[in-house]
Amino acid sequence: MTKEKLMQAAIAARKNAYIPYSHFGVGAAALTSDGRVFTGANIENASYGLTMCAERNALFAAASAGYYEISELAVVADTDAGVAPCGACRQVMTEFMAQDAPVYLGNLHGEIDDTTVAALLPGSFVKGDMHNA
Ligand code: THU
Repeated sequence: MTKEKLMQAAIAARKNAYIPYSHFGVGAAALTSDGRVFTGANIENASYGLTMCAERNALFAAASAGYYEISELAVVADTDAGVAPCGACRQVMTEFMAQDAPVYLGNLHGEIDDTTVAALLPGSFVKGDMHNA
């Protein structure tokens, strides 16, 4: 699948963003190692801190369906440059994606910034850091 197609899935997912507070919609699409696509949008809450980001909703949708290996992730929002994932989402990426896995950060003008999990969160805490895990 091309990154443009994965980005299209993220753009479609963004339509379901539940954003009565920020009015800032985000969409994400996660490509599994066997070619399936799981999507997510940001879902807000009146108790603001309970809001869940689009990226984590996409990654958790994949994991909840039993897909723990994500090869690529696309994220999109109405931003000037490609949207920047929050720190929590960067950490969750490291759980299900390889350090060199591509992440595509897009906006609604068709710009796509290519980056990687490691570039987004260098020196992240990973499974292997826990000797008893
Ligand atoms: N948001 C995401 O969905 N992903 C990010 O990485 C950045 C922030 C959402 C959370 C909240 O609903 C809105 O954007 C404003 O923070």
